[in-house]
Amino acid sequence: MSVESSKGPRAEIENLLMESRRFPPDPAFVARANATAALYEEAERDYVAFWERLARERISWYTPFDRTLEWDLPFAKWFTGGELNISYNCVDRHVERGLGDKVAYHWIGEPGDTRTLTYADLLRDVGKAANALKELGVRKGDRVAIYMPMIPELPIAMLACARIGAPHTVVFGGFSAEALAGRINDAEAKVLITADGGWRRGKAVGLKQHADDALVDTPSVESVLVVRRLGDAVYMLEGRDHWWHEVVERQPALCPPTPVESEHMLYLLYTSGTTAKPKGIVHTTAGYLVGTSFTHETIFDVKPDDVFWCAADIGWVTGHSYIVYGPLANATTSILYEGAPDTPAWDRWWRIVEDYKVTILYCAPTAIRAFMKQGEAWPQAHDLSSLRLLGSVGEPINPEAWLWYHEHVGGGKAPIVDTWWQTETGMILITPLPGVTTTKPGSATFPFPGVEADVVDGDGRSVPFGGGGYLVLKRPWPAMLRGIYGDPERYRQTYWSRFPGMYFTGDGAKRDDEGYFWLLGRVDDVMNVAGHRISTTEVESALVDHRSVAEAAVVGKSDAVTGQAIFAYVILKAGQEPSEALALQLREHVAHVIGPIARPRHLLFTPDLPKTRSGKIMRRLLRDLAEGRVLGDTTTLADAMVVDSIRAASGRGEDE
Ligand code: WT7
Repeated sequence: MSVESSKGPRAEIENLLMESRRFPPDPAFVARANATAALYEEAERDYVAFWERLARERISWYTPFDRTLEWDLPFAKWFTGGELNISYNCVDRHVERGLGDKVAYHWIGEPGDTRTLTYADLLRDVGKAANALKELGVRKGDRVAIYMPMIPELPIAMLACARIGAPHTVVFGGFSAEALAGRINDAEAKVLITADGGWRRGKAVGLKQHADDALVDTPSVESVLVVRRLGDAVYMLEGRDHWWHEVVERQPALCPPTPVESEHMLYLLYTSGTTAKPKGIVHTTAGYLVGTSFTHETIFDVKPDDVFWCAADIGWVTGHSYIVYGPLANATTSILYEGAPDTPAWDRWWRIVEDYKVTILYCAPTAIRAFMKQGEAWPQAHDLSSLRLLGSVGEPINPEAWLWYHEHVGGGKAPIVDTWWQTETGMILITPLPGVTTTKPGSATFPFPGVEADVVDGDGRSVPFGGGGYLVLKRPWPAMLRGIYGDPERYRQTYWSRFPGMYFTGDGAKRDDEGYFWLLGRVDDVMNVAGHRISTTEVESALVDHRSVAEAAVVGKSDAVTGQAIFAYVILKAGQEPSEALALQLREHVAHVIGPIARPRHLLFTPDLPKTRSGKIMRRLLRDLAEGRVLGDTTTLADAMVVDSIRAASGRGEDE
């Protein structure tokens, strides 16, 4: 598949090429910046020595490491021989050096309730939670699943796991019971930590109910810890379910951290790929800590008095790296907000920025476009002058959104860092360094110091500046995934087989004449909806799982707010009649099986699907049809009439 044909990045390229504005760093910012150009030079001289220095300086070790990198492609080990504990590095050491009263999290519940957690509070709460896990029989190496709303107990639970060397797997609270069960079973989690529910858009969302549905099918789970957030009555299974406030509260606060080896598994995080089965991405301890804490400090220019807000959900990698581990390792004060940006009104975020004097905001282009749509009056009604740096992540940011963000949120002066990375990369890899890099709206600019990225053609040859191709990574980095849980072959196959010796990101990219990287979206069958990866295959199998569906094909259709929206083509079984009601039912079915984020926005019943002579569905044509574009090359189409029959079917579906 060529990059050009992948989901219509052509228009985007033209658009980007017209964007010639550039934003050099402000001298006042440069004078105080954490990052300097010297980092690039140091890392280029010897990238292994560069990471070695950072690992020695930034981590408090029980046993110092003796080897920096063991690279047995595609398997990396960093800082071996060393022993550490990441919860000690994120909490205890700050308290020990007198920062106990410093705020770790300003938490804001959606209904307006608030809590403040200092580093001393965290130390106590993490110790208690860790002791509770021990009481429930959790030992070093046991997996713990976490399915929670954005409440302080979520990072506390993660740190408690890390404290005793138990890898966690956080499942986003928006996922369905089925998705949760699949992840628990793949990880064979011994304990599940959840809550009675959380608040979203003014509604109480019951999580325990989903958890109970999942637990019917999860033989590995022995105990469930339930945080009371809503206070509603929930079902508690005697002997299995325990209230957090009963079991955790009565524990001693002291729980000595368990030293673990550098490569000890810190967590598993499931992400979509091109098959229906999510991949359990393995992250380990020391390299991840170095990578997330150093990128956090340099890319966000974080100083001791900053108020940092990464507005992602902790259920995604962005939250793991830049709400929990990176910021805490740097003793940062962060905002943790439970709810939606439009509740009670579209200025909720701007109120928070004003009230807490937030200095750094990190969010996704889909949020920025949603704010743009509501108009600048919302941010204008608030004092946002505390903001001194803005970040973007999750998908390409279009220049219009970049400029709007710059002007209406950043007051025309805050630098913007457009950060490219993935669940697999663990840390930001392509990004400007504020105070160093001249930015161009829409470009993630350059690889982070020590990172080697390239744009290659189908044969793996580097494409000269000015051209586009596939984005690859050519050397290991400390926070990289260590594999797919339980499946080394799939790891090799997915990331390392397309271009021998290189990590294939699945993204298309181009470099301009000055070598700036411009990301062009996925080139595989993975959609990016509101900054999150959803596999077409996963949605298709959820549809086919419904008794009336014979076949389904799913593509991403451009969407002004969410980047892409899911467009499903459905062939019904004989005897089933297409109807709006059925379309609605099928969309709900997908939401039920995977979660509301995967609910198709558009659904079209069709008598047939365009296929090649060998029977492969031609998604490229389905994308063209969904976008209302002129069809691309149809020479390999087995039956040209099919396209007309799909066109004729348009209208026999249902849109959100
Ligand atoms: C995919 C990874 C890593 C945090 C959130 C998503 C896309 C991510 C950017 C960016 C263009 C981006 C890529 C990538 N992506 N950041 N700044 N510019 N595209 O994590 O769910 O693992 O998705 O998100 O397509 O491959 P994820």
